[in-house]
Amino acid sequence: MSAITVRVPAKVNLQLAVGPLREDGYHDLVNVFHAVSLFDEVTAAEPADGDATAAPLTVRVEGDHTGGVPVSDDNLAVRAAMALAGRAGRTYRADLLIRKSIPVAGGMAGGSADAAAALVACNELWGLGLPVEDLMEIAADIGSDVPFALLGGTAVGTGRGERLAPLETAGVFHWVFALADGGLSTPRVYGECDRLREEAGEAAPRPVVSEALLDALRRGDAKALGQALANDLQPAALALRPSLADTLAAGREHGALGALVSGSGPTCAFLAESAEHAHELAGLITDVDGCRAVVTAHGPVPGATIAGAGAG
Ligand code: C5P
Repeated sequence: MSAITVRVPAKVNLQLAVGPLREDGYHDLVNVFHAVSLFDEVTAAEPADGDATAAPLTVRVEGDHTGGVPVSDDNLAVRAAMALAGRAGRTYRADLLIRKSIPVAGGMAGGSADAAAALVACNELWGLGLPVEDLMEIAADIGSDVPFALLGGTAVGTGRGERLAPLETAGVFHWVFALADGGLSTPRVYGECDRLREEAGEAAPRPVVSEALLDALRRGDAKALGQALANDLQPAALALRPSLADTLAAGREHGALGALVSGSGPTCAFLAESAEHAHELAGLITDVDGCRAVVTAHGPVPGATIAGAGAG
């Protein structure tokens, strides 16, 4: 029995510019993704011989606070494995085990990360040998953030976020993430963003990448990056979860170079000056109301990567 384990990072959005609602229900974006060292692990194992009538794909989830992660065909990792088998034109079997550290429904693309990891793991387990370009195509059909979880690093996404161009960066950036109790639904946050704009009589602007942000990344200038961080979904996330404003304020008061809601939230991200500063900041934010846990991480890091192969 063989098994493949893939390690896959969370993302934070350094810039999330949200354009108008499209006819297909998505929004045109400029989405600057940054992969950080907070990882899920997905193992795809060959099922034991025996029950030929068993489902071809099974999934189990391990980790704290994994309530709400489906253990059915709705799980994005299962959907990705099914799509891969479909592309290969036959039924393949695998038992998937997801070890979660990325917060669930936290705005850090944890579900998308698991889908990307399942694609890499099953491609290897089943000996398909599909090139990364093919995995990227399947990934985009599963969800807007899945291709980035394959790529990792720092990249700008356009379209609904799935068309990626890698970005040049220098150095390492140090982050603190404040995880919140419970998640926020991504469609709900986008819907609230549209509603707030309509209420204010604002037309959605055409999303444009921030030159200041690109320049800060190229120079590895954390201070300039902190000032350029921007998330158009933040007002909507704050409207749905007002306590996040206190979390952001606490980080700023304690000297974060930048503070923003990660993606559709409710995780809040703080940029620190150094690894030491990140640890110090993490200690100071821990006691804020509504904050379940605080973790430190660095970026950029690579996308979904095979971490081990062996007996299942
Ligand atoms: O692509 P994904 O399934 O991850 O998107 C989840 C939801 O987020 C979509 O159903 C949509 O409501 C919203 N979304 C959006 N525009 C995007 C990406 C996601 O409105 N570009």
